Amino acid sequence: MRVGVPKETTPGERRVALVPDVVRRLGTKGVEVVVESGAGAQALIPDALFEEAGAQIAVDPGEVWGADVVVTIAPPSDEDIGRLGSGSVLVGFLGPLTNPGTVSALARAGVTAFAMEAIPRISRAQSMDALSSQSNVAGYKAALLGAEHSTRFYPMLMTAAGTIPPAKVLVLGAGVAGLQALATARRLGAQTTGYDVRPEVAEQVESLGAKFLDLGVEAAGEGGYARELTDEEKARQQQALTDAIAGFDVVITTALVPGRPAPKLVTAEAVEAMKPGSVIVDLAGESGGNAELTEPGETVVKHDVTIVSPLNLPASMPEHASQLYARNVQALLELFLDDEGNLALDFDDEILAGACVTRDGEIVHEGAKAKVEAG
Ligand code: NAI
Repeated sequence: MRVGVPKETTPGERRVALVPDVVRRLGTKGVEVVVESGAGAQALIPDALFEEAGAQIAVDPGEVWGADVVVTIAPPSDEDIGRLGSGSVLVGFLGPLTNPGTVSALARAGVTAFAMEAIPRISRAQSMDALSSQSNVAGYKAALLGAEHSTRFYPMLMTAAGTIPPAKVLVLGAGVAGLQALATARRLGAQTTGYDVRPEVAEQVESLGAKFLDLGVEAAGEGGYARELTDEEKARQQQALTDAIAGFDVVITTALVPGRPAPKLVTAEAVEAMKPGSVIVDLAGESGGNAELTEPGETVVKHDVTIVSPLNLPASMPEHASQLYARNVQALLELFLDDEGNLALDFDDEILAGACVTRDGEIVHEGAKAKVEAG
């Protein structure tokens, strides 16, 4: 099996889908890797390190996209899809629920495409869970951004000049990113509180030394994800949250519902009630944001509150984000191989079946098919 690693072309994307250590590990399984020259540059991985690990370096992108399996971070452009041969295999964050145009184009091109987002969250697939590995990076960075933009210390300071109380940090949405944000803020000395609509999360929040904010609304959905709330539940949650938010110095929001716009949890009224100098870090900007006043991709000041909404935070830590992603991809690629190291896709395997988005010219992922049909 020959694997191609293109240079990412999405603006701001600094990660690379494989790193030299993983190239070496794949080499021991008989997998050949071809890396586009400069693919690792933004993650500070020079071509020479890939070569040392056994990869071939190609200057022509066509050679990389012509491999049996192409691994990327971001979804491919139309031009890239045109470079994929019919029957070739693509792996990456393809956005099956948010990117119907790309999914349709991949099906038309006869590509067998696997979306990292669609890998089932079963224990056997934990090593392939790129949503989790990248959410960890985003959550960590969000806590740091909150500290950076705040006019106050996170930790309690007892000095000769007086005592400063610890900052109060609230994290809304306690999935992988939210839990990491809570852990990081706590390590920096903040007093932390977490909130989520999934009730089972309370225990995880508390195990990180944080309080759980109980607003009396529960919304456990399918597969461990949240379901969308009813209108009455939303109104109740909103008012209770608006009242609570005023007491916090930093609010980090990470609430997402797969394939839906992000729930609006922080109203303009809530921002107005916060103390001047407070900070909101909204990690849901790519899905529209959790705060009403968020401007995705921008840092704005509203009612003397700084609202930061960085896009693609994992790309801001390209070294470790690439390393973790590459290990996730490696684990998936190992499932593609037969005993002789040849490409042999077994669609009876629930991981491959679940992650596959297009195959034999068809869209085979139910959610993606529904999005395409809905136009
Ligand atoms: P996500 O990124 O889809 O969403 C982030 C969080 O926002 C979730 O915790 C969700 O409950 C919460 N949320 C949604 N609507 C909300 C609202 N209106 N108010 C407050 N919070 C709201 O979630 P992520 O991090 O991808 O995790 C989803 C689930 O998958 C979790 O149960 C997690 O434990 C589970 N998981 C399972 C794994 C496995 O078994 N291999 C690996 C990683 C995660």
